[in-house]
Amino acid sequence: MKIGWFPGHMHRARKVMAELMPRIDVVIEVLDARLPISSSNPLLDEMRGDRPCLKVLNKSDLADPEVTGLWVTRFQKRQGVNPLAVSATNPGEVKRIKKLCLSMSRRKPAPLRPVRAMIVGIPNVGKSTLMNALVGRRVARAANEAAITRKTKHIDLSDDLTISDTPGILWPNLENQRGAFRLAASGAIRESALDFDEVALFAARFMLKNYPDLLAKRYKLTEMPDNGQDLLEAIGAKRGCLIKGGEVDWNKVTTLFLNEFRGGLIGRISLERPKEE
Ligand code: G4P
Repeated sequence: MKIGWFPGHMHRARKVMAELMPRIDVVIEVLDARLPISSSNPLLDEMRGDRPCLKVLNKSDLADPEVTGLWVTRFQKRQGVNPLAVSATNPGEVKRIKKLCLSMSRRKPAPLRPVRAMIVGIPNVGKSTLMNALVGRRVARAANEAAITRKTKHIDLSDDLTISDTPGILWPNLENQRGAFRLAASGAIRESALDFDEVALFAARFMLKNYPDLLAKRYKLTEMPDNGQDLLEAIGAKRGCLIKGGEVDWNKVTTLFLNEFRGGLIGRISLERPKEE
């Protein structure tokens, strides 16, 4: 899906969020557990004010479990924030969210005024998947557009808790180039200004530096190439991504490698780890 974020879209999304926020008691911010910083929008903290925030580290099935643990510990230290690592594709794992929202809300539910939660996040972090898992049926696919125009309704999750039927969409922060590459490598932004080959090379270099053992195992490499290009060529040769004359088919191997990287086939990978305190 093509998502272009222009200043006008961002302004609109911000306005919509500002209109919705006063009616919300708990914000459920969905992040990609593999890159919790780059998949966040720092403006959310400003927009949510002092409302409690449940930071859902989603897609934790794809992330390095040790690093996810470090992120959970890090976020626990923030005031008004509760982190929870889940995989929204596994509905059993999201059950705890309801209880957590109720316990985090500063306003206690009253008979005609349940606690109101809203899911927010940048595109492709799993907002709709989480919403469907929480509600227990397919609600709506989040239109990953800059603005929500129709009136938001609330869906009952229990007698005490409701959730807005449309997730709040925030824009990805693409100003930081390293962050933009991480988002592109994870698949969060597919159509971007970044060159596909460059994204594949970024992911290849990242894997060489951080997860060489996973590479060796997945691609049966006995010797580790010392740069991204050589790694992709070695993978291309192993996997038969070749053109006439025996040269590596660059398009084929970059697509194969990025698909396997994004889909967790190489292993559980985290693109960001908390900085040492
Ligand atoms: P969004 O509303 O935030 O834009 O995200 P959405 O729920 O559409 O999820 C984006 C993609 O991420 C979907 O895959 C979805 O299945 C996948 N996803 C969501 N949560 C998880 C998770 O916890 N683990 C894993 N591994 N994947 C997750 P897709 O291929 O784009 O769509 P589909 O073919 O699955 O429908």
